[in-house]
Amino acid sequence: MKLLIKTFGCQMNFADSDEMGRHMKERGFQPTENEEAADAILVNTCTVRDLAEHKAASFIGRLKEWKMAHPQGLVIVTGCAAERSKDEFKKRFPYIDLIVGAKDIEQFPKELERILSTQEESLPLPELTPTTPNAVVQYVTIMRGCNYNCSYCIVPAVRGREIYLPIEKILAEVADRVGQGAKEIWLLGQTVNSYKPSHAPKPHYDFADLLSDVCAVPGTQRIRFISPHPYYLTDKLIDSMSSNPKVCEHIHLPVQSGSDDMLRKMKRNYTRDLYMRGLERLRRAIPNIAVSTDIIVGFPGETNADFQQTLTLVQEANFDSAYCFQYSPRPGTASAEMKEEVPEMIKEARVNELLALTDSQGTGKAAKLIGTVQEILVEDDKGDGVFRGKTRGAWRARLKSENLKLGDLVQARITGTHSRELHAELI
Ligand code: 5AD
Ligand code: SF4
Repeated sequence: MKLLIKTFGCQMNFADSDEMGRHMKERGFQPTENEEAADAILVNTCTVRDLAEHKAASFIGRLKEWKMAHPQGLVIVTGCAAERSKDEFKKRFPYIDLIVGAKDIEQFPKELERILSTQEESLPLPELTPTTPNAVVQYVTIMRGCNYNCSYCIVPAVRGREIYLPIEKILAEVADRVGQGAKEIWLLGQTVNSYKPSHAPKPHYDFADLLSDVCAVPGTQRIRFISPHPYYLTDKLIDSMSSNPKVCEHIHLPVQSGSDDMLRKMKRNYTRDLYMRGLERLRRAIPNIAVSTDIIVGFPGETNADFQQTLTLVQEANFDSAYCFQYSPRPGTASAEMKEEVPEMIKEARVNELLALTDSQGTGKAAKLIGTVQEILVEDDKGDGVFRGKTRGAWRARLKSENLKLGDLVQARITGTHSRELHAELI
């Protein structure tokens, strides 16, 4: 039996999809990318912005035809939009067989059993097969949910309060993934560096300690984490990053805005100055660290002067890359009630201006890498002699070679760049 997984949204969702895929594999479903060949389709949805939910909903809408052609096929819908719009989805898409919201992900195996046992007559009960994940890059969730209350964000509503996975469980999971061939491990959490387990081997055990412990797991090679919150960028964490050579020289540190007024209205719990000082401390400790960020334009009440503050922050911060979003009001969030909406045209003009700046910054950063030697992890092999992977600074890179294989960690010289991808040559 074959399972197709379609994931929308963030790394957290991709990690959840992996986890659900593993449960389904244990029930005999092998992965496929071909809709026609699939016996089950799992759609893991996102609702962070209206467009994200819309994309997931139109994908589910298209499955009506698939279900008609595959009446015994399973349609499973999970994730954040499933949490927020469960009843609406059930009504709009009556052919959904199983719907599990993001808060209930722990219940997925049980729900799956339930649905498979009711399907037993039409669907042969699968053999138990061992899982054989072989991805070179693997995600390990260390916490779920979010205790923040950023006024624009729907995540706390759909994923709930923070729950920390126990240290031993995380370390065992990392060891397991390494045993399966993982070369790069990403530790995941909505605000990953607020990790604070209830049972710890010493007082004040926090994310910085966990990071060091993960590095000490035998066989780990590269470690990353996403997404840290600027408020918890402690000296202890920076020390842990700089003193563990396995931690890649890259951080994704969402700033959202350069205006203190907007940051306050967003309830981000830091000022522009605090963010910039954090960046300075990081760069002092890890001079070649690559920094990426998230930025929202057009938050309610954002004036042109506020937006200029974002532009100057971007200029000062000199990011390697930035994800720039137009503000999207989410039902039930505090900012959805705020007046002073910024007109669509202005949002669009601002995001374009911002993208022009962040793109040119990125291009400049990439150009500086030409001629340098970088470590590249080979993550993708299309079989045409061209391999793709990432540098430690998270730059995508391509390499031509006869004798590389997935999972190789190689030293390569950067020879050029093409639309945010580095071209590299083995040395
Ligand atoms: N509108 C626009 N962007 C948003 N993000 C989160 N919520 C919204 C929203 N309502 C962005 C933030 C966050 C990223 C994952 O998505 O920049 O860091
Ligand atoms: Fe991830 Fe947030 Fe989207 Fe949920 S709503 S998938 S947590 S980005």
